[in-house]
Amino acid sequence: MNAVAPLPPAAVEIVALSKRYAPGTPAAVDAIDLRIASGSYCCLLGPSGCGKSTTLRMIAGHESVTSGDILLDNRNITNLPAAMRGTAMMFQSFALFPHLSATDNVAFSLKMKGVGKAERQKRARDLLARVAMGHLAERKPGELSGGQQQRVALARALITEPRVLLLDEPLSALDPFLRIQMRAELRRWQKELGLTFVHVTHSQEEAMALADTMVVMNHGVIEQVGSPHEIYNHPANEFVARFMGGHNVIDTPAGPIAVRNDHMRIAADSQADGLAAAITDVEYQGTYVLLGLALEAAAPERRNVSVLLGEAAFLASPYAQGETVRLSWAEADACALAVAP
Ligand SMILES: Nc1ncnc2c1ncn2[C@@H]1O[C@H](COP(=O)(O)OP(=O)(O)OP(=O)(O)O)[C@@H](O)[C@H]1O
Ligand SMILES: [Mg+2]
Repeated sequence: MNAVAPLPPAAVEIVALSKRYAPGTPAAVDAIDLRIASGSYCCLLGPSGCGKSTTLRMIAGHESVTSGDILLDNRNITNLPAAMRGTAMMFQSFALFPHLSATDNVAFSLKMKGVGKAERQKRARDLLARVAMGHLAERKPGELSGGQQQRVALARALITEPRVLLLDEPLSALDPFLRIQMRAELRRWQKELGLTFVHVTHSQEEAMALADTMVVMNHGVIEQVGSPHEIYNHPANEFVARFMGGHNVIDTPAGPIAVRNDHMRIAADSQADGLAAAITDVEYQGTYVLLGLALEAAAPERRNVSVLLGEAAFLASPYAQGETVRLSWAEADACALAVAP
């Protein structure tokens, strides 16, 4: 038997953490446990209202904790003020001061700490240079593009030399093109700086592109923690399979399974093995064609499934709406789903 690998050092450890905003209301965060490895990129992911921002704000010290503990580098920070935690937060709107230059925005927290003007401006300019904003250091936020403002916001968060950077939907104010560009930059900065990033998003694609570790939340609890590859290929339950997308949830005698829609096998022959299904939809997507199908013998909530075919495979047998086909899958591509107790 292999020796159990030691757990990587945790930058952030959350123990039985709960938040209830008002007595008698459901918990916004319900007794969650989580270890975030030092120097890793962690994404908290889940639908609106599932408790992502509440969790992040409790780590930052911007929200009180109802019960449980938060540790940073083995130090219990649960009741420390935000400025003493070793964390920094970057917000969705960047929240830059409009009347201050980029340099003064970045230097602001050092000014509050009483650092002299020459010293704080030097450190601010160094950091701006590091995020490729040195040449625009004297501009005000209104004179900068969205992506440039984001870099100023990042430099401002980093000037306090945090161990952990907390980012709440940091890309949502950007247009789709810039969002993808800035996402690559965030990832690069995180690796370069060697810091721990905890990034909240409701975009599966963004989380998969960025995260070493993804944390999928729902109704204040954690449904699954793992690498993007683990979670995409082995969703723990129906919620995760459906939330990640690209999966079919199918009832079998042994219980529900998830099968990736690009792993489904489709046969036109009505005598072939497999589940009978009618094609309801054919959607051309360039590299792929997405077929929508209705299973003939399935419960209503499990009836709709999809099959993703490569363009060449589709052209070789161009299925049409209304056709009845047979669906199957390789045993190895079926992922058993946990059923709620
Ligand atoms: N200040 C508050 N007072 C009362 N309830 C709150 C407060 N902030 C959040 N909530 C509630 O707590 C729950 C979790 O909210 P939270 O903001 O953490 O969700 P989220 O996952 O960040 O959602 P979104 O993706 O929409 O930002 C929601 O039901 C929300 O209505
Ligand atoms: Mg939120």
